[in-house]
Amino acid sequence: MTQEQIAAYKTAIPETKDNEPMAGHTSFRIGGPARLYTVAPSSDALIQAVQTAQEIGIPFYVYGGGSNLLVSDDGYQGVLIQAANRSLTIEGNVVHAEAGAVTALVARKSVEAGLTGFEWAIGVPGTIGGALYGNAGCYGGEMKDVVKSVEAYRLKDGERVRLSNADCRFGYRESFFKREPHLILSGELELAPSPDPKASKARMEEIIQTRKEKQPLGQSSCGSVFKNPPGESAGRLIDKLSLKGTRIGEIEVSAKHGNFFVNQGHARAQDVIALISLIKMKVRDELGIELMEEVQYLGF
Ligand code: EPU
Repeated sequence: MTQEQIAAYKTAIPETKDNEPMAGHTSFRIGGPARLYTVAPSSDALIQAVQTAQEIGIPFYVYGGGSNLLVSDDGYQGVLIQAANRSLTIEGNVVHAEAGAVTALVARKSVEAGLTGFEWAIGVPGTIGGALYGNAGCYGGEMKDVVKSVEAYRLKDGERVRLSNADCRFGYRESFFKREPHLILSGELELAPSPDPKASKARMEEIIQTRKEKQPLGQSSCGSVFKNPPGESAGRLIDKLSLKGTRIGEIEVSAKHGNFFVNQGHARAQDVIALISLIKMKVRDELGIELMEEVQYLGF
C-alpha cells in the first residue's frame, strides 16, 4: 500500500484506525497490527468499505468474531474490516441475522422466542457470518441443517445475491464462500416451534456444561485448530500420541483437549505455526493421517 492509497481510503472511510493491534480482536489474543482497521456497523457500511478498498486497489479482509483466526506477528498490510452489522429479527419460525450477530446470542434469542433447532449453536464462538463461512457445527448440529438462505455481496461483479441452502454447497467446515469470494451480509435460518421450550433451554445449558468440561473455555484459543479427519477426532489422535502439553514459546497444546492450543501469555503467531507443523508431522509420521487446519490464516 502506498501513502496515497492509505490517505484515499481514510478520506472515503473516515472512522478508520491506523495500526490496530489484532491481538485485541482475536480470541487467540495473538496478532500484529492491521495497517488500516474499519468497524462496519451496517451491511451498507460493510459494502462501502469493501468497494472503496477494491476501487483503490488495496488488500482487504473481512472478519466477524475473530474466534477462528490466526493473524501473523507482522500484522496485516491492508484494511481489516470487522463485520459489526448485528441486527437480529425473528418472524414466525424464521430468524434473520446479520453477519455480525453473535452466534451464541442468536441461539439464545431463538430459544427465548419459542423455537427449536438452533440450541447447539450456544457452543459456537464468533458471529453468524463466520459460522456460515465455515459451516460451523457442534453437538449434533451444523449451519447447513438450518440455513434457508444467505444474502451476500459477490465480489467479482459487485452484485447483491441471495443464495439458497443448496447454492451454499455446505460440507464439513466447508462452503461455497470459501471458494468464490463473497461478502456474507446476513442469513435466514429456518427453525421450528419448540414443543417444549423448557427442554430447549435445558439442552442449551447442558451444552454449555459439556463444553466447560471438555474444552479449555477460560483460556485464549482459536477453538479447534484442525478439522477432524473423516470418522476421527483430531483431539483424540493428538491425545493418543501423548502430545497434550507440548509447548513452543508460550503456546501449548491444551491438557484438556488435544485440538485446542492455548495461549499461556504472549504467544507469538510464529510459535503457533511451529506447533501446528510439529503436531502435523507427528500425526503423519506415527499414524499416517494428514491433519488439515480449521483455523484461518491472515497476513502470512
Ligand atoms: N478425545 C480424547 N482426547 C482429547 C479430545 C477428545 O480422547 O484430547 C475424545 C473424546 O473423549 C471423545 C472424542 O475424542 O470421545 C471426540 O471428542 P469431542 O467430543 O471433544 O469432539 P471433537 O471431535 O474433538 C468436535 C468439533 C468441535 C465441537 C465438538 C462437539 C471439530 C474439529 N471439532 O470436536 O468443534 O465443539 O465436536 O460437537 O469438528 C470447532 O470446530 O472449533 C469445535 C470446537
